[in-house]
Amino acid sequence: MRDTWMGPSVLSADFLRLGEQLAELEAGGANYIHFDVMDGRFVPNISIGLPVLEATKAGTSLPVDVHLMIVEPDRWVEEFADHGADRITFHAEATPHMHRVVQTIEAKGKVPGVSINPATPIGVLEEILPYLGQVLIMTVNPGFGGQSFIDTSLDKIRRMREMIDRVNPECRLQVDGGINEDTIRAAAEAGADMIVAGSAVFAGDRSPGENVARLRAKLD
Ligand code: DX5
Ligand code: ZN
Repeated sequence: MRDTWMGPSVLSADFLRLGEQLAELEAGGANYIHFDVMDGRFVPNISIGLPVLEATKAGTSLPVDVHLMIVEPDRWVEEFADHGADRITFHAEATPHMHRVVQTIEAKGKVPGVSINPATPIGVLEEILPYLGQVLIMTVNPGFGGQSFIDTSLDKIRRMREMIDRVNPECRLQVDGGINEDTIRAAAEAGADMIVAGSAVFAGDRSPGENVARLRAKLD
């Protein structure tokens, strides 16, 4: 299988012990840290923002991958770049000006990504794809950790992989939502090469580092 990156989502972390847990994730073989920003408008939940991003960046040597689930991302991408984001993904549904937002992210020297919700067709990405470093296919409705993987996503991932291979093979294909030891392999086999996992890493009795290692092992 291709070289797949594993990125724990700190949305499900224990924020009282964030520094410690970031170190464990790194030791467990995480390739990047996924950072979920929710505004209570694009999604029905509010999560974490700039100050926690700054702390996260200071607490890890891994790239920090910011997932903006917010309206009007054009107003915020520069701030997130300045507070420690290395990769910035916004939602296609959240702006009529994807190309402009991508340019702003690039001008900050960060890797641009676009995400689509489960009911959004992959076709909306066709024209912007040549400019992207990653595409994020949501495999749950964004807004909450701990939901179940939507099964029809596998076919969508396959079709997205075909488009990426045809239009921009350098682009990464990320999946986010409901990834656990039962779903990770199917998602990777369908073509995902950048995995996000939140509750599967932070819930239960095992340490986050051990959970990352177990998820990684499913990819071998
Ligand atoms: C959901 C977020 C995810 C979330 C995934 O809206 O974008 O990154 O942390 O959590 P799990 O892995 O528990 O589905
Ligand atoms: Zn996310």
